[in-house]
Amino acid sequence: MTPLVSLRSVTKSFGERPVLDDVSCELRAGEITVVVGRSGSGKSTLLRVIAGLTEPEDGVIELAGERVFADGEHTPEWARARAVIGMVFQSYTLWPHMTVLENLALAPTRVLKESRKAVRARATEVLDEVGMSGHLESRPARLSGGERQRVAIARALMMRPKLLLCDEITSALDPPVAAEVLGVLSRLKRDEGISVALVTHDMAFAAKAADRVLLFSNGSIAVDADPREAFEASENPELRSFVDAVRF
Ligand SMILES: Nc1ncnc2c1ncn2[C@@H]1O[C@H](COP(=O)(O)OP(=O)(O)OP(=O)(O)O)[C@@H](O)[C@H]1O
Ligand SMILES: [Mg+2]
Repeated sequence: MTPLVSLRSVTKSFGERPVLDDVSCELRAGEITVVVGRSGSGKSTLLRVIAGLTEPEDGVIELAGERVFADGEHTPEWARARAVIGMVFQSYTLWPHMTVLENLALAPTRVLKESRKAVRARATEVLDEVGMSGHLESRPARLSGGERQRVAIARALMMRPKLLLCDEITSALDPPVAAEVLGVLSRLKRDEGISVALVTHDMAFAAKAADRVLLFSNGSIAVDADPREAFEASENPELRSFVDAVRF
């Protein structure tokens, strides 16, 4: 099956330093991919490059079989194909002075020119999907951290992405709250068929819910394996150090 995202020999440097060093990988449809690695290893850069927020220098990127980056620039197909991607960040990026509905309505109203009625119906639907029904009129400033991250996921869902890229979305949350938010991602995969790539240090979630684990090390992918392999057989000492952190 055609992968949802394919990167071939993607490179990105900041100054002299290669942050993505000839990276090739695939994200498959219907899978949860967990990206782990030390601070500064290039995890966020990988997600940002896939989302088009950071331009690589070189390499080829395909989304659902369509070439969206080649010869050092995005192709004309990018403008349309990028709609398959939604991104959620670590820090709460909701507007505190607007209601949840107003936050959720921004992109679909501006970009898709959808009617207020359609947007409200969609907002009701996505809030339900993240377990936040009845919060249309709430203000983010009054919500807990976990609730805000669920609204941030709902906001990304408004645009009907096929792939959610999540960068440490639970690192500011207490473990049980983090588990709830990550549980939302598993449900979205199961019920809505949404694929997820997430950067997280939560190896318990990786063991339970991931279909694939990528270990980033100095801008390269050192391990690309299913979680069983990654957890049981990996000889990589860096991955072991992450895995051992969840063994009791
Ligand atoms: N916009 C930028 N300008 C300059 N350097 C950058 C920029 N973005 C990232 N870097 C550098 O690239 C390297 C990789 O950064 P990246 O944010 O991808 O790492 P990370 O694996 O996500 O780390 P962390 O776990 O701390 O979030 C780091 O050394 C970082 O300082
Ligand atoms: Mg990061």
